[in-house]
Amino acid sequence: MTDKGTYYITTPIYYPSSNLHVGHTYCTVMADAMARFKRLVGFDVMFLTGTDEHGQKIQRIAEEAGISPQEHVDGIVAGIKDLWATMEISYDDFIRTTEDRHKRRVQEIFKKIYEAGDIYRGEYEGWYCTPCESYWTDVQLVDGKCPDCGRLVEKAKETAYFFKMSKYADRLLELLESEPYFLEPETRRNEMIQFVKQGLEDLCISRGSFDWGIPVPIEDGQVIYVWLDALSNYITALGWPAVDGTPGEDDKCRKYWPADVHLVGKEIVRFHTLIWPAMLMSMNVPLPKKVLGHGWLLLSGGKMSKSKGNVVDPVTLIERYGVDALKYFLLREYTFGQDGLFTNEALLGRINGDLANDLGNLLSRWAGMAEKFVCGHVRRQGRDADQSVCAAATSPDNELKELAVSVAGKVEAHMDGFAFNHALEEIWTLIRRSNKYIDETMPWALAKDEAQAARLEEVLYNLGETLRIVSILIQPFMHYSSAEIRKQLGITDVTLKWEDASVFGLEAEYHATKGVNLFPRLDIDAELEALNALVPGGTDEESDGTEIVPDLGKVCAEEEVAEAAAKKGEAEYKPEIEYDDFDKLDLRVGEVVECMRHPNADKLLVFQIRMGNETRQIVSGVAGSYAPGDCVGRKVIVVANLKPRMLRGEESKGMLLFADNGDRYEFVTTEAPHGEKVT
Ligand code: MSP
Repeated sequence: MTDKGTYYITTPIYYPSSNLHVGHTYCTVMADAMARFKRLVGFDVMFLTGTDEHGQKIQRIAEEAGISPQEHVDGIVAGIKDLWATMEISYDDFIRTTEDRHKRRVQEIFKKIYEAGDIYRGEYEGWYCTPCESYWTDVQLVDGKCPDCGRLVEKAKETAYFFKMSKYADRLLELLESEPYFLEPETRRNEMIQFVKQGLEDLCISRGSFDWGIPVPIEDGQVIYVWLDALSNYITALGWPAVDGTPGEDDKCRKYWPADVHLVGKEIVRFHTLIWPAMLMSMNVPLPKKVLGHGWLLLSGGKMSKSKGNVVDPVTLIERYGVDALKYFLLREYTFGQDGLFTNEALLGRINGDLANDLGNLLSRWAGMAEKFVCGHVRRQGRDADQSVCAAATSPDNELKELAVSVAGKVEAHMDGFAFNHALEEIWTLIRRSNKYIDETMPWALAKDEAQAARLEEVLYNLGETLRIVSILIQPFMHYSSAEIRKQLGITDVTLKWEDASVFGLEAEYHATKGVNLFPRLDIDAELEALNALVPGGTDEESDGTEIVPDLGKVCAEEEVAEAAAKKGEAEYKPEIEYDDFDKLDLRVGEVVECMRHPNADKLLVFQIRMGNETRQIVSGVAGSYAPGDCVGRKVIVVANLKPRMLRGEESKGMLLFADNGDRYEFVTTEAPHGEKVT
């Protein structure tokens, strides 16, 4: 194996407020696939995950359960580790923010930023809910009341420490504008650039209203803000800053920092591309090379949310279909960076189609025929690989071989861009071509003719080689299936390398044994009924999936943006209309079930909107504000009785309502079920 250098990849560290759902699994599965892939191609990989265990929310959940916060998180973290063990998530380290190694270093980080002159004592002002002992920002309040208990809140102040975020605004803007590689996808980068341009305020980084956190090292009675604590994990896990005085304590940091990629959900991109770099800038530490913001898995009612209880439990899916089926589905079904809808139908469709019909079938057909026709013994024929590739350029044999050796390169290119779905699609092109090869060469017919014995063996050998290549190609994504294929091929050498996927004719012979059926076919109707009962969130039933997006403390300029937009709106109104004019409008709640770019117009998006029993197409000029994947699952307001018209060749039946702040359009959304009237 050639050493290509180091590769450090991280996931967010998850809140152990309750068990993780399939949304968290999605992120971890992507990171795991990338870590496995990088190891296989020769990188020295460091893959970090963990849990973010402090904060008021965790403290309150534990209090409600009548246990200590530590007991609470210990229980949940044990479950998270079990889940990752079942899925053989190949992390190299799992950091818990309650570990001593982390806590001491976070205090040291606080001190370093303080010594750099970037932390000052000030007054934190917010909306305080006395029964909940919590501060909330304007944005977090629900109808002006506490989002947790619904009671009245009052303005309150307390002494706290602040981090001089504003000092770093120019450098952050320059980073975002001049280094496109630093934050992807581009839509997120543009959002962040706009965010910084609106102005950054200093960030409140200590709290005195609860104590489940890391104590501020320079004053008793305050704990460090959870995000400062949590973000530091990426470097404390590497032993930085050195606090023990032991030799080699921060060797890992020297080796792996800066991180190659922080993989995070889109809702926490802000924390990773503003607060985290500013902290590092303050300490003169190099910045991570890249932050990648992935999209959300949505249920028909919106984002999965632990707090709302509308989640899909990965354990249920794994118990029923296995680890590889879940991993394959998550990696193949969704486009990186975009939101995607999780449905039970889509999951079963992939399992029966791609996995049972294509991959499972290929292996069982080959192993079955090899056992039956040649007693499992398949040898390479007299010709070597290169000669046979040159034989007849258009024969099925050459087509298969040429395709087989070309896939690894294509997978590498797609993996560079985290395009797991395209990488898998390339592999499946080969798998489907192999099934077609069986149909073309008809080994069962060859087996009936003695004179075709050599040809029969050649066909089975070509398929064996293809399966060997497939087993290497799928290894980062589905390692159980990869191992099972090798077992049925009779390959005992477990050291097959990525480079071996680009060579045809490598193995001298195969000893086939028909083993377990990798992915047995499902009776879709019966299975869907059973799954809908087990995973109701994956059905099309309505669910309220909104989640409170974490606030950015004082940095958050959202209130000001809202104020500015409101002021803009105040300016001019259209002329008065009669009530009857308004009454002519038929407004309905619709749900975006699909969204794509208009094939002939850059500014337009083509939506499929479900309203009750009907799904209709509506075209809107909002491509500058939304990526198609960001729209699926949203509940929107539709002008349902607008005369249909053609927009650049696409029919548009109705209109969607958006708020317009002058720079971008925002959906006017609702949580009411689709089809309902808006009056
Ligand atoms: N503790 C913070 C992260 C600190 S990182 C220094 C946190 N934790 S979390 O438990 O809420 O996990 C958030 C992450 O989980 C998201 O950024 C995303 O990677 C993943 N997901 C959670 N719900 C998800 C979906 N519904 N869909 C896809 N990913 C989801 O935020």
